[in-house]
Amino acid sequence: MSGGDAGAKAACFTCHGLKGEGDGRDAPRLAGLDAGYLHRQLDDYANGRREHATMREIARKLGDGDRSKVSAYYASLHPGAWPVDARNPAGARIYDEGDPARGLPSCASCHGESGAGDAANPPLAGQSAAYIAGQLTAWRDAKRNNDPLGEMRRVSRLLSPAELEAVSRHAASFPPRPPEVPATSPAARRADPRSDASKPRPHATGSSRRGE
Ligand code: HEC
Ligand code: HEC
Repeated sequence: MSGGDAGAKAACFTCHGLKGEGDGRDAPRLAGLDAGYLHRQLDDYANGRREHATMREIARKLGDGDRSKVSAYYASLHPGAWPVDARNPAGARIYDEGDPARGLPSCASCHGESGAGDAANPPLAGQSAAYIAGQLTAWRDAKRNNDPLGEMRRVSRLLSPAELEAVSRHAASFPPRPPEVPATSPAARRADPRSDASKPRPHATGSSRRGE
């Protein structure tokens, strides 16, 4: 809350909101995202696999223990209700169906029909159109290189600029709600700060890719 050693301007809520809802523009919703996903994003900002000057500086000031704690904290927050964009018909077609003719999968096939996401695929619901478009552009331009299977790099390069804009607006029309946790995924998958030291880590220190 105070920004720790990095000072008040690095306090997460300054940009991500008091409830982790994001600022509706560039700073994304963190509330209710998977703890493992959040932790890996902090690792990747720090190691440069995901380029962003501000988050790089902040992530580098957090040790591994702090990254775990802050990730568990945001994962535990329930996304509230906040205003969303109107549906976008052109974007809806790409979101729901993709375009099999050019090998473009639907966004829904991974992120869910209404963008709720799951443990492996982050939610898009409750993210702003500006943030979603920004991430698609970052993948397309190889500024974000941390999707484990390269799926987002591939998808983003198949979209025309107009489609990228439309699908981002559409994905921003879903009201925020918690990701779907499949029955096969035990609740224990969520990082528990109390069991940090005793449990084997899902990925080795120093590499955020191994074991993903
Ligand atoms: C000065 C504003 C600012 C502050 C302070 C800040 N962030 Fe961020 N954060 C951002 C922006 C902007 C982005 C989007 C960057 C991008 O485009 O990759 C972001 C992205 C993130 C992401 C990626 C989320 C996703 O869905 O992929 C995480 C995780 C994150 N921040 C965690 C934190 C934590 C934890 C703190 C506090 C220790 C913090 N941030 C403080 C502005 C900020
Ligand atoms: C094959 C599965 C798959 C498909 C299809 C897919 N995504 Fe993704 N998407 C992912 C995964 C996995 C991630 C997380 C990558 C990571 O771990 O950094 C992701 C991340 C994202 C993010 C970043 C979320 C955040 O919090 O930073 C956005 C935005 C996004 N996808 C939008 C889309 C859109 C729009 C489409 C359709 C045009 C789409 N995705 C299609 C799997 C997919």
